[in-house]
Amino acid sequence: EKGGYDHFMLKEIFEQPKAISDCLRGRINSEDGTITLGGIEDVMDKLVNAKRVVIAACGTSWHSGLVGEYLFEYLAKVPVEVEYASEFRYKEPLIGEGDVMIAISQSGETADTLAALREAKARGALVLGVVNVVGSTIARETDAGVYIHAGPEIGVASTKAFTAQVTVLTMMAIKLGLEKGTITKTRATELITELSRIPAKIEEVLEDTTEIQRISNLFSYAPNFLYLGRSYSFPVALEGALKLKEISYIHAEGYPAAEMKHGPIALIDEMMPVVVIAATHHTNDKMISNIEEVRARKGRIIAISTSENTEVADLAEFTTIIPETMDVFSPLVSVIPLQLLSYYIAVNRGCNVDQPRNLAKSVTVE
Ligand code: M6R
Repeated sequence: EKGGYDHFMLKEIFEQPKAISDCLRGRINSEDGTITLGGIEDVMDKLVNAKRVVIAACGTSWHSGLVGEYLFEYLAKVPVEVEYASEFRYKEPLIGEGDVMIAISQSGETADTLAALREAKARGALVLGVVNVVGSTIARETDAGVYIHAGPEIGVASTKAFTAQVTVLTMMAIKLGLEKGTITKTRATELITELSRIPAKIEEVLEDTTEIQRISNLFSYAPNFLYLGRSYSFPVALEGALKLKEISYIHAEGYPAAEMKHGPIALIDEMMPVVVIAATHHTNDKMISNIEEVRARKGRIIAISTSENTEVADLAEFTTIIPETMDVFSPLVSVIPLQLLSYYIAVNRGCNVDQPRNLAKSVTVE
């Protein structure tokens, strides 16, 4: 059932090209630059007129929501707030008619996310689901939604659900942008064409994992890790850190790279591995300055970057090369080496990868 892989997590990491292709199938058309999302066609008017969008989720799904915030704000020019579902429900939320909530959940059974959507619904918001498990409670209770079609995810650490969630949010943002006129048809066609190439780009990362395995072997016993990213790479930094914490039991923190100098920089010495996600073009110069700051304090820099980005490769101690793509799609590619890093470290440490201690696949208690 693990299809020849040692763990479900590894199988699911390698399933990502297929999961994303399945997620895109029948929904994107790069010939005429259109996107069809059957589950939300009927509510598109409400989404187009939304004053704001509130995304509610937990854990990895919350991280994909953060990527969604960048996508929706950039492509569809709608204000987005991303809430931890657990916080949203206990703060007398300001949400009501004219607002749209997007509840993101792999399992569709997470208690806090369910409670948040019930709260939003009761206050008159339109509630949409971005869910994997068909017929799950969240899928049933939302007004409309888009399934991510990632297939069953067994490993407790979420991998293919993350990339498929981001894929759905990307399609929603492009579609909304088109309908609102915040992006042109030509731009949408360019975006859709590049989106259709993402599965092959992920495949490329998966084809050769030797460098990431080498890095994993060197740092398996580090007590701490820092992950830094800007813009679309910031949620990826959070996701990389969560993966490492949950399956390797190594303390890790993700930060927006510029926040480093407001505190965490004090942690950096020659013992500290710093994973730098340098995958977005428009923040590259700033990331390079951050890398220099870490270097000056002798931090061990592990960069995730493209082959064109020689400046980063020259500065970093280790670099994992990922294929070039547009900034908006970079999380779909840059998260892959981070999933693999946490996987190989967990295996080296003899951890129970698929069922980490203290964790359940879906958290159905509040
Ligand atoms: O099923 P959900 O997407 O609602 O689950 C949310 C979180 O519990 C989940 O993403 C959790 O953080 C994972 N173990 C992360 O890998």
